[in-house]
Amino acid sequence: MTRREIYEQLLHEIPLLIGAEGKYAADLIGKMALFSAAVKRRFPDLIFIGFYIVKDQYLHIGPYQGDIIACTPIAFGSGVCGKAAADRETLIVNDVCDFPGYIACDSETRSEIVLPVVQEEELIAVLDIDSGKPGRFDDLDQHYLELLLKIVFDNSTS
Ligand code: SME
Repeated sequence: MTRREIYEQLLHEIPLLIGAEGKYAADLIGKMALFSAAVKRRFPDLIFIGFYIVKDQYLHIGPYQGDIIACTPIAFGSGVCGKAAADRETLIVNDVCDFPGYIACDSETRSEIVLPVVQEEELIAVLDIDSGKPGRFDDLDQHYLELLLKIVFDNSTS
């Protein structure tokens, strides 16, 4: 399957599992846990996928999948996660060695995508995904992941 096909499958699957109509009626932490598990299951090559939750201008580790110990807390503006949170913009880093201030939680990660999670116009978290392959993430990932995050976490505005 291509990456696009996998994302199309996730677009169908994730709302059924954890969207507004999700059969488990998960709370926020539950949605983050199920989201991480659902995406990791379809992309087993990922090293880490998980959420950092915003609290008092810091990002605190939330539910995640991956065999690493996540760095926490992360200040707004620090590392890839902190910069994406401060700018409220998706950030794709093709080679983490080139990112000034990159926070290394493991020695395998080579590329990373971080997306803001917004609910009712408020930044509540960021989604962080790491890969061991340089340049693993592009516009296609950004498009589908932003869509999935909107469906799951900001369906109040749709
Ligand atoms: N590399 C991230 C820190 C989080 S870990 O990758 C799980 C960063 O620079 O913000």
